[in-house]
Amino acid sequence: MTDPPLVQRALALERELGFERSCIREVGLLLHVLAAQRGRTRVGELGTGCGVGAAWIVSALPPTVPFVTVELDETRARAAAGLFADDENVTVLQGDWHELMPREAPFDLLFLDSGKQHPGVDGADVVGLLAPGATILMDDLTPKLPDADPVREFWLNHPQIAALEILTTPETAAIVGTVNGRTGKAGTAS
Ligand SMILES: C[S@@+](CC[C@H](N)C(=O)[O-])C[C@H]1O[C@@H](n2cnc3c(N)ncnc32)[C@H](O)[C@@H]1O
Repeated sequence: MTDPPLVQRALALERELGFERSCIREVGLLLHVLAAQRGRTRVGELGTGCGVGAAWIVSALPPTVPFVTVELDETRARAAAGLFADDENVTVLQGDWHELMPREAPFDLLFLDSGKQHPGVDGADVVGLLAPGATILMDDLTPKLPDADPVREFWLNHPQIAALEILTTPETAAIVGTVNGRTGKAGTAS
């Protein structure tokens, strides 16, 4: 598929601001596929950047489905808010997700794209943002790391999340997981 117009505008914004940490196209396509799935009711993102990942998501979501994204950096948050200004179902928050996102939850699709390096510190807070049956995606993993990796340890062994690691390119990987819908609210023991 060709990049949706919104994605093209986000990429232009990224170039304008000299930002180099947007998700790669392969991850964007994966977000697009996940967002397009039947039954999505509320979608979120931690770490907006310049809105590239958000644009892949929003381009696939039915227009009535709320999407909330949060960005710590004021300049990027303002720029991304401008990108989605015409879409009343898109909210770009400026601030720390730990503070702002719990009141926006639960989400049934979440792109975890900030602070995922320390799941021992805030992994449980992320899980607490997920609805039963929710899907979570995180990118920027390096395949075949030789040492034990706390990100993989946490997400691939979580008792309430079924997750696997997939290659997005030969050099990059992502984890996609889903909260077990049978155990009730995410983050509580079954
Ligand atoms: C990898 S970039 C996001 C890229 C974006 N998701 C995309 O796909 O194009 C991570 C972003 O998270 C933001 N960030 C870091 N810590 C944050 C926090 N505690 N709350 C909200 N945003 C945060 C950074 O400023 C940065 O812009």
